[in-house]
Amino acid sequence: MNPLRNAYLEALGIDRWVPRGAVEEVAEPAAARVPPSISLPASPRTEAPARATIPAPRLAPPAGYVRGPLADDWPGLREQVAGCTACEQLCKSRTQTVFGVGNTRAEWLVIGEAPGAEEDRQGEPFVGRAGQLLNAMLLAIGLPRETVFIANVLKCRPPGNRDPRPEEVSNCLPFLSKQIALLKPKILLAVGRIAAQNLLATDVPLSRLRGKLHRFGEADTPLVITYHPAYLLRAPADKRKAWEDLKFARAIHARILGGSLADGGSA
Ligand code: URA
Repeated sequence: MNPLRNAYLEALGIDRWVPRGAVEEVAEPAAARVPPSISLPASPRTEAPARATIPAPRLAPPAGYVRGPLADDWPGLREQVAGCTACEQLCKSRTQTVFGVGNTRAEWLVIGEAPGAEEDRQGEPFVGRAGQLLNAMLLAIGLPRETVFIANVLKCRPPGNRDPRPEEVSNCLPFLSKQIALLKPKILLAVGRIAAQNLLATDVPLSRLRGKLHRFGEADTPLVITYHPAYLLRAPADKRKAWEDLKFARAIHARILGGSLADGGSA
């Protein structure tokens, strides 16, 4: 075990169940191993049950709102997000939009739910306590925060941290899809039920979405689901499962790099 990684696993409170004295650097538990003959779904919707959870969204934006084609470059897209008024309530209550942060050449895109109070203040995702745990989770699989890109399904904070509304998700998802198109990540890691269910358009519980390889979007980008760090702060016993998810994601990424798993067509 790499001592640095060990320290972070201890910080996560998940050191006790990491095999000690393992020959390999990290021993993958059977549940987290990618079987050599993993059968991949044609699309995320075949992986998740078909019943869509999300009530039919109100697709029409508020009167007067016009969104043209989204920019094909990062600064242009950031500007469009910053000026967005598609959600009447959110665009008034926000301090600022939270576009996302990180390396625009990252192979990993981490997707959360929506900015919280601190993110709304600072304009950056995952900067509060949950963000610190997310950083430790990523580092535990060898990913310093600055090596990944982090974004949310919603770019504005829902007041009182309420759940995003279906029409808000519907208004905002095109921004995330464009971020994915620009970044061309090799793998998506969705943290939490809200991100997972909205990306997969399902109401299947998170417990049944984790541990599987899903695909998202036009590029069929591999998508792995794990718990939200804010949830893990409330339910530390589930950090063990999150660690399995992270190792699963890392194994999927390794298979993509090794060429035994398609990355959805990204370069
Ligand atoms: N929770 C999220 O899902 N995203 C953030 O940016 C912060 C907290």
